[in-house]
Amino acid sequence: MVPRRQEYGLKKTAGMRSGSVVNFRAAVNSGSVRRSSAVLPSVLTFLVIVASGGLLLMIEKGMLNSMETPSPRGSGRRLDVRGQAGKYGRDRLDVDVDSQILHEIRNRTIRTVCGQKNMPHSVWSLSPLQRKTLLQHILVNDQYRFLYCYIPKVACSNWKRVLKVLSGALESVDVSVKMNHHNDLLFLSSLKPEEIRYRLKHYFKFMFVREPAERLLSAYRNKFGEIQSYQKKYGVEIVKRYRKGLSKDASVAGDDVTFAEFVRYLLDEDAERMNEHWMPMYNLCQPCAVNYDFIGSHEHLENDAEFVLQRVGAPPHVHFPERQTWYKPVTTETLHYYLCSLPQKLLRELLPKYILDFSLFAYPLPNTTTEHCRH
Ligand SMILES: *[C@@H]1O[C@H](CO)[C@@H](O)[C@H](O)[C@H]1NC(C)=O
Ligand SMILES: *[C@@H]1O[C@H](CO)[C@@H](O)[C@H](O)[C@H]1NC(C)=O
Repeated sequence: MVPRRQEYGLKKTAGMRSGSVVNFRAAVNSGSVRRSSAVLPSVLTFLVIVASGGLLLMIEKGMLNSMETPSPRGSGRRLDVRGQAGKYGRDRLDVDVDSQILHEIRNRTIRTVCGQKNMPHSVWSLSPLQRKTLLQHILVNDQYRFLYCYIPKVACSNWKRVLKVLSGALESVDVSVKMNHHNDLLFLSSLKPEEIRYRLKHYFKFMFVREPAERLLSAYRNKFGEIQSYQKKYGVEIVKRYRKGLSKDASVAGDDVTFAEFVRYLLDEDAERMNEHWMPMYNLCQPCAVNYDFIGSHEHLENDAEFVLQRVGAPPHVHFPERQTWYKPVTTETLHYYLCSLPQKLLRELLPKYILDFSLFAYPLPNTTTEHCRH
């Protein structure tokens, strides 16, 4: 049964400026509506973490193109934020933030970070390689006038099913056929520049994101645990590169890549040329260059997908598919186990590499202190 939809604004929950209310109509079950007093501190904490993630990014960016110095006003504001981060600390984070507030925070962070001078402000200011990657990841539906930027490991097969049903290529989302990821789908990359321009300007644009470390773990477990072509293509190379004494061994099968080896490989790869399953979400969908109207979360998949379908005016019989029976969720415990099993040195490099995914989409950095990992 579809829960009753309810419209609500931020004003109700956190007393923020009403001008910033996003009209996000979500299906909420009354149990998850939180009391305003409990919400506010976690929102603050959340904002602070996000902002400090943004700060990390600025530092990183600044180092990359060292001639760019941030404006004095901008840097003052960021320093303030860091001061607060110290005060509040991260331990009080309540991850179960109302999704309304999450959207608002995500929205503001993106506006703030993307507003920086050295960030891309349109598809046309991207490098040819960045633009190619982006346009190849945006799916078009002309009838319902929307663009969907897909990210592998974030329910993208299910969205592709929905798109095929909407275009009439598939009878129902529940038809049990193996997903073909290219047939019957229209990619923005196949259109002419003026057609691309028109759609970017007038269509409803959305994407879905997932906790970045969880997405990487999910890609690792799926590709290296189950898919032979990946073991052959990537696994063999990874083992030869990172396991001592095997660099010339012809018998390496690549079917036993460890998570630490996978992470070392990620660190050595160029984020703009990686395989899409582990390329940062930022590089796949370029949220600064494309002004997305909605960024849904894998963590709230059902409600967020329902919202999008309603927003684009999909017929009521088209619903978002249920999780497949073979779906293996990444549990908090599993993620904790894998992250904590990594050498600290790798962790310290991994998180900055994906810092835009954490900061722009408002995911707090995982706690990987030795203290936390002991539990
Ligand atoms: C951000 O907020 C603006 C203004 O409320 C809205 O138009 C836009 O769709 C929002 N974007 C996202 C990604 O939520
Ligand atoms: C990490 O977890 C430990 C132990 O659970 C806690 O004491 C510490 O404050 C946490 N650190 C952060 C930055 O959240």
